[in-house]
Amino acid sequence: MMTKPDTTASMQAATTQWLQSAAPATAHQTEQLREVLRFHEHRYYVLNDPLIADNEYDHLYKLLQQTELAHPEWVTPTSPTQRVGSSLNSSFASVSHLVPMLSLDNSYNAEDLLDFDRRVRELSGLSEVTYCVEPKFDGASMSVIYENDQLVRSATRGDGVQGDDITTNSKQIRSIPLAAAFSRYGIQQVEIRGEVLMSKKNFALYNSKLAEEGIPPLANPRNAAAGSLRMKDPQEVGRRNLEAFLYHVAFYTTTADGLVPTTHSGMLEMLWQLGFRSPQQEKRVLQGIQAVIDYCLAFEARRDDLPYEIDGMVIKVDDLQRQEQLGQTTHHPRWAIAYKFKARQAISTLRGVEFQVGRTGAVTPVAKLDPVGIGGVTVSSISIHNQDYIAEKDLLLGDQVLIERAGDVIPQIVRSLPDKRNGTQQPIHFPTHCPVCQSQLAKEADEAVWRCINIECPAQVVERIIHFVSKDALDIRSFGEQQVRRFYELGLLKDIPGLYKLDYEAIGQLDGFGTKSIANLRSSLEASKQQPLHRLIYGLGIRHVGETMAKTLARSVQHLNDLRERSAEQLLTLEDVGPKVAASIAGFFANAQNLQMLDELAHLGLNLQQQEAAPTTGGALTGKTFLFTGTLEKFKRQQAELQVEEKGGQILGGVSSKLNYLVVGADAGSKLEKAKKIPSIIILTEDEFLALLAAEQG
Ligand code: IVH
Repeated sequence: MMTKPDTTASMQAATTQWLQSAAPATAHQTEQLREVLRFHEHRYYVLNDPLIADNEYDHLYKLLQQTELAHPEWVTPTSPTQRVGSSLNSSFASVSHLVPMLSLDNSYNAEDLLDFDRRVRELSGLSEVTYCVEPKFDGASMSVIYENDQLVRSATRGDGVQGDDITTNSKQIRSIPLAAAFSRYGIQQVEIRGEVLMSKKNFALYNSKLAEEGIPPLANPRNAAAGSLRMKDPQEVGRRNLEAFLYHVAFYTTTADGLVPTTHSGMLEMLWQLGFRSPQQEKRVLQGIQAVIDYCLAFEARRDDLPYEIDGMVIKVDDLQRQEQLGQTTHHPRWAIAYKFKARQAISTLRGVEFQVGRTGAVTPVAKLDPVGIGGVTVSSISIHNQDYIAEKDLLLGDQVLIERAGDVIPQIVRSLPDKRNGTQQPIHFPTHCPVCQSQLAKEADEAVWRCINIECPAQVVERIIHFVSKDALDIRSFGEQQVRRFYELGLLKDIPGLYKLDYEAIGQLDGFGTKSIANLRSSLEASKQQPLHRLIYGLGIRHVGETMAKTLARSVQHLNDLRERSAEQLLTLEDVGPKVAASIAGFFANAQNLQMLDELAHLGLNLQQQEAAPTTGGALTGKTFLFTGTLEKFKRQQAELQVEEKGGQILGGVSSKLNYLVVGADAGSKLEKAKKIPSIIILTEDEFLALLAAEQG
């Protein structure tokens, strides 16, 4: 799939049309709608440059889904709807690769690369070699086969000869097209190799979800990707937002000579043109080994800025005939080598374990290690989550442990090294009582976490205040974790409402508190009273209520007190609220102490009101943003804005990438010019706007 400007323009026009129309009426129209969806999938998942808002994509997708439901005879195997497998994977059949999946020889420094180049030159007789250099993606390797332009099979690497059939799961990776026009290159069957990844951002999100459920995080994005590919439920695979880079055409059959590229870089270009995410933008074709070494070093320096993990670079002889001439050993090709970046693993000794009590009473063991440097930071403490995790990693006091830090990801213990034990290692004993308030710890049947259930436990109280003032909650600037602890220990602060009743005279006597810092503190506390309701809800630290859930809850009420009236059953009707979350929220609002705290916060002047207009539920324009500009002749601006809002849409104050629609009247000026430069904005005439409203009626 190419995205030439003319294709982009015609696809955008088609998008606007489909957003305004009823379901397709013929099989042909249905295929046209599919083309539009495929175009947007490519923009989003391969080019990372979406042209429409998520809710618009969802709208078009649902339109297609409804059509296919009404006309099953129009469904095609490569329809975007066919990514979602309905049945579970019972087991993964073993399948043979068309050609073995080899691994790469490794190099670690410039000298190793010079040796590699010398060997290549000797064997090929060339005086200077042209190389293609690209990142070495740190994920799970995979092989995909296309026949007659359709994806027919995907497999894991396995032992290199046979792997597991993961076709259904791989269809959940939206950067892998279900159909690709290889026939344009005369290719009938092709096997392509690539790497499945989880981006650093998605990995962090995924781990924070696990943490909210009290499940220990995964060690690194590589494990997350590999594990995801072998999940039983394809829908769960879909939720993990995996990505794939395809970097090697391992085998193909052709019906016409002369169309298939003759270089590796040409193959990457072909894959890119066909809609795959190949390392087209990251790769460089370079003459001679010195340029290769320079590029590897330059890329290594940028490693942390990439959105995904790489663990090195891969250097390949670019000419495919030369590759064939050079051949391979039993393990690796002679025409390629990996240049591995400096390890982000290290070994240290587990000296002790501290038990920390968190905001929800969860008791978390933290491993204390001999300080060790990994990838530029010194690590001496690592959370080891819970008792099950300690057992699973087989950790003993005094053990040598392997530590990994994947980029900006928090360091983790990968495993212990039992071979290095000398008999002095001791088991880790979990406390039976809270290390802070000494009350007995409790554990729920389906959880791995021991908790202190004394809601007054000083450790919990202080952590709750720290959470309340934190950046994503009430964002009380100039009041950080250390200050909360200090004030608490000095008896100047004992609970959340206490923040708004501080004794500034006493604080003025403390070291480091002058008139200016007190004034700053006062004003940021005052400002925090007006924070939007969702921040307050998040700040309350209700178990299982993260930022997204807090927003959902805020949107569902007009005043925080409305939540007092909600039963767990009623809460279950909200988006993403399951029984656990509903019970936790209902439990919070059933607790007299909590209600008293909320009353007090209201009394102290905090905003408990939902100020953003609650979207008309199910409004046809929900989530869409509009702006009107120029002289409107067919309707009054105010009326039009009201109509948009009544249908759940939102009016923006200016042109930005957040804007979905700009409605243009006569003599429109700078706003129109600005909007034209942002491709995702759909520009509507007054008539088109009226047609959109009419189409969305009901
Ligand atoms: S080429 C015959 N290119 O690294 C050559 N491999 O041990 C096939 N990898 O198993 C491999 N990024 O999973 C190649 N740009 C890249 C790669 C890459 C990551 C992985 C691949 C392979 C391992 C090498």
